[in-house]
Amino acid sequence: MILSPSLLSADFGNLERELAALRQAGLSWAHWDVMDGMFVPNITFGPPIIRRLRRESPLFFDVHLMIEAPERYLADFAAAGADLLVVHVEASRHLDRTLREIRRLGMRAGAALNPSTPVSAVEEVLDTLDLVLIMSVNPGFGGQTFLPRSLDKVRSLAELLRRRGSAALIAVDGGVDPGNAGELTRQGADVLVAGSAFFHFPPYAERRAAFIAAAPSGRADPSALFGLIP
Ligand code: DX5
Ligand code: ZN
Repeated sequence: MILSPSLLSADFGNLERELAALRQAGLSWAHWDVMDGMFVPNITFGPPIIRRLRRESPLFFDVHLMIEAPERYLADFAAAGADLLVVHVEASRHLDRTLREIRRLGMRAGAALNPSTPVSAVEEVLDTLDLVLIMSVNPGFGGQTFLPRSLDKVRSLAELLRRRGSAALIAVDGGVDPGNAGELTRQGADVLVAGSAFFHFPPYAERRAAFIAAAPSGRADPSALFGLIP
């Protein structure tokens, strides 16, 4: 299981220090929530902030774009140093082209599904996907309650990936905590994104240990997860 702490719940006045603390606590991923005030009713940060922090941190930058027409900014996020770029299927009219472009720019490509979007929305683009992100809350804010139906969605997605021979990772984002982490990984989740349930419970090394204890790896060989663990 890969734990990807969502910086949305970190101290925005000390992002450099927060990233260093994550690394020190043994984390390898950091999740960036980019919001534009259009696709979701909230605004956060964009490429300049990520580019600046890229110079300070070797963590795997998992960038979740909650923005309309993300194809306008793919090159900017590549230049900013994103390792994985996740776009919402609801926000990208030509999803296949967008995902191909993300890979062409040298990043891993991910697609996110809102709670109302069925798993079948990624069925035709599986060959171009490194990760599928299941939103387990309606996106826009941290600290919301986990939607239990997301568990079924993780299971259906895991079945679909297995059936199609896809090695894409399954990520879950929203209301994830040590209480549901075990069930999520049992249903097939590989990556757990956690904001408030991670950052509000320091020290980070202990919190990481709590997540890991609750969620033994869902897959037989986590080191085979597409080389995504740095
Ligand atoms: C929500 C974001 C999440 C958010 C999760 O729109 O995509 O990454 O930070 O926060 P928690 O873990 O607090 O629900
Ligand atoms: Zn997110």
